[in-house]
Amino acid sequence: PLLKPSCRDATSGFNDTTKELLRSKKCCPPASKKYPERRYKIDEITGPTRTRKPIHNNPECVKKYMDALTIMRGLPDDDPRSFTNQAKIHCAYCNGSYMQNGQEIQIHNSWLFFPFHRWYLFFYERILGDLIEDPHFALPYWNWDNPNGGMVTPQLFVNEMFVNEENGKSEPNSLFDEYRNPGHLGSGLIDLDYQGQDRTDGFDQKEIHLATMNRQMMRNAFDATSFFGGKYVAGNEPIQRGDNVVGSVEAGCHTAVHRWMGKPDPLRNGEDMGNFYSAGYDPLFYVHHANVDRMWTLWKEMGGKEPDDIDWGNASYVFYDEKQEPVRVFNRDCADLTNLKYNYKESPTPWTERPP
Ligand code: C2O
Repeated sequence: PLLKPSCRDATSGFNDTTKELLRSKKCCPPASKKYPERRYKIDEITGPTRTRKPIHNNPECVKKYMDALTIMRGLPDDDPRSFTNQAKIHCAYCNGSYMQNGQEIQIHNSWLFFPFHRWYLFFYERILGDLIEDPHFALPYWNWDNPNGGMVTPQLFVNEMFVNEENGKSEPNSLFDEYRNPGHLGSGLIDLDYQGQDRTDGFDQKEIHLATMNRQMMRNAFDATSFFGGKYVAGNEPIQRGDNVVGSVEAGCHTAVHRWMGKPDPLRNGEDMGNFYSAGYDPLFYVHHANVDRMWTLWKEMGGKEPDDIDWGNASYVFYDEKQEPVRVFNRDCADLTNLKYNYKESPTPWTERPP
């Protein structure tokens, strides 16, 4: 039997309640007239296969994302496809907003991490494609695992305005977000082992980078638990960092990029990228997570397998699809990308050759 979730204002994940919140705690999606939600069938996924490409040498993909996002940002608040409502999904599933049988749901720090985010991006991408009427639309992925080009904040995201080539006018850039670390928007190389402090000189950032990737994708990711994270099922207390095995990528480079990008301000909460409740408000979140999702496919290509526990396959989430209909999706249906009709264009993975 499926447990019915209920939703309330976000309650957890704010380290210090005296700090000012820059985003709303009201994370529940707009109510649907269609309840209960329908079960999503993967054979209803129609259309061509979308190919996600690396962000750094595909400006035309980024441009499409920008155009689609401009439309998405313009949707009204009662539309579940609006950018704000899409951003709130992350908060709802991560900050004690969704409840199941009186217990809060937390999709981080466990084996729910990869499949939840895969489905989240899946619908986000389909909604964007639908808004620009492009069935081929695919999110670009921020290939931060490649030190040749991928290690800086993607250029098209950093400026508040951009010049529209068609009319020569300066227009607001939909990919911009004001709550980012201003020191990390230029040519500074990303630190995949970021601990909250910029390193001082004398480090070879690229070497640290390759070693980190190698460790998290190979040496420390030797089975389903070490890669995906530990078991978490209905009835368990929400898992906090430290209570469980957290998957190597989730705990490592994934979190490092979040913290590296969020705005450091002792009076705030790391908004946007540095906090669960606000991360979805940064358009970079989705291209970052496209690369995290790509790590799953790369790990699988190297021989890895999803958890074979039936409880993993049966775990499910509810999202709105591109037709604004609530649908329930299952982990077991997202393991094979051919069913989901998207894939990743290859890009170099020099860390496979580098011992940790
Ligand atoms: Cu749901 Cu990158 O976190």
